[in-house]
Amino acid sequence: MLSIITIVVGYLLGSISFSYLFGKWFKGIDIRKHGSGNAGATNTLRVLGKGPAILVLLLDALKGVVAVLLGVWAADDIWISVLCGLAAIVGHNWPVFFGFRGGKGIATTIGVMATLCFVPTLIAGLTAIAIIAITRFVSLGSLILTALLPFLIWGMDRPLPVLWISILLCAFAFLRHRTNIVKLIQGKENKLGQKRA
Ligand code: G3P
Repeated sequence: MLSIITIVVGYLLGSISFSYLFGKWFKGIDIRKHGSGNAGATNTLRVLGKGPAILVLLLDALKGVVAVLLGVWAADDIWISVLCGLAAIVGHNWPVFFGFRGGKGIATTIGVMATLCFVPTLIAGLTAIAIIAITRFVSLGSLILTALLPFLIWGMDRPLPVLWISILLCAFAFLRHRTNIVKLIQGKENKLGQKRA
C-alpha cells in the first residue's frame, strides 16, 4: 500500500510544472503559448531568461531525485524506486494540475536516472552537453542522452529494471520530441540562444 501511495505522490510531484508556474509568477504568461510552447527549462531560457531557466532545470531534476528516493524509502525493491521515478516523469509530461500539457521530461529524466545509476547518466549527460555545445541544438543533445542511456546501462551491467526504464524513457523522449525531430531534419530547429521558435 505504501508503495502505491509513493508512486502516486511521485506522479503528483512530477505534475508540478515549474516552468508554467515561473511563467505565471514572473511574467503573467502561460509559457506553453510562447517560444516552442514547451513547459521546460529550454523554453524557459527562451522566454524568461537564464536565471529562471537554471532554476527550472534544477527543480525539474530534483522532482525526479525526490521521487526515486521516496521509492527507496518505501520499499526495499528496485522496481518501486523505478516506478516512482517513472511516475514523476509521466507527471512532468502529462501534469494533472495543468490540463495534462507539460514538458518533454528531460530534466526530470536526468534526476531520476542520476539517482538510479549515476555513472551512466553522468557519461550520457556529459556527451549531451558536448553535443549541445557543438551544435547548439538542445533537442539533439536531449535525444542523444536518452538514446545512449540504455546502451551504457546494459554495458555497465546495471539492474534489469533500470535498463527497462531507460528504454521506456528513450521512447518517451522521442515521442515528446517529434516536432523537434521534424525541425532538425528540415534544418528549422531552434538553436540555443535563438529567441523565437
Ligand atoms: O528538453 C527539451 C528540449 O530538448 C527541447 O526544448 O523548447 O526547444 O522544444 P524545446
